[in-house]
Amino acid sequence: MKVDLNSRYGLNPAHSEVVEACKLIEPCDTLDMGCSNGRNAIHLGQLGFNVTAIDTNPGAINMLQSIVNGEEMSNVKAQVYDINNASLSEDYGFINCTVTLMFVNPARINAVIADMQEHTLAGGYNLIVCAMSTEQHPCPVGFPFTLKTDQLREAYAGWELIKYNEDVGTMHNGAKLQFATLLAQKPS
Ligand SMILES: C[S@@+](CC[C@H](N)C(=O)[O-])C[C@H]1O[C@@H](n2cnc3c(N)ncnc32)[C@H](O)[C@@H]1O
Repeated sequence: MKVDLNSRYGLNPAHSEVVEACKLIEPCDTLDMGCSNGRNAIHLGQLGFNVTAIDTNPGAINMLQSIVNGEEMSNVKAQVYDINNASLSEDYGFINCTVTLMFVNPARINAVIADMQEHTLAGGYNLIVCAMSTEQHPCPVGFPFTLKTDQLREAYAGWELIKYNEDVGTMHNGAKLQFATLLAQKPS
């Protein structure tokens, strides 16, 4: 059995939605947006995905790169990149963006999502998990950006919504936090 590299390097397990999505998505060229120190990228790499992992934080990218170098994982590369640029240069079968969009400049959100969609191959997938702030559940955390009701669903009009929910969770301090979760497939 393969060693679990997330535990070997003290990384949290991959996001549960990433684990779930990988039951459906076959290994392919994949972009992990806002990868931090790589809990999702390493998991995807171990499953055979060909991963480009991007983050603005050079410390996180260096840490991920040192894991990748140490393990000789030629299918994972880590790069410093600012998502606000919305200027991806390659196309992917899977773009993962878990718990990252809320740190993006609100004025750039539409451009960032449009760029993700444009750089997804026909039949490819986008996974997004992002905090919301609604009248019923105002976001208790000061994120730069939060989604409104149905905003993400509407941004993916024309794609097949394999999963979409706007569930409310409870934080450690009891505060309610609403998240939108979307797994969508681009038409072939
Ligand atoms: C809460 S962490 C999420 C990490 C990872 N996606 C996960 O599921 O665990 C958010 C990450 O987004 C990165 N980030 C924030 N703004 C960014 C930007 N403009 N461009 C690229 N990465 C950014 C942060 O550095 C941080 O590593």
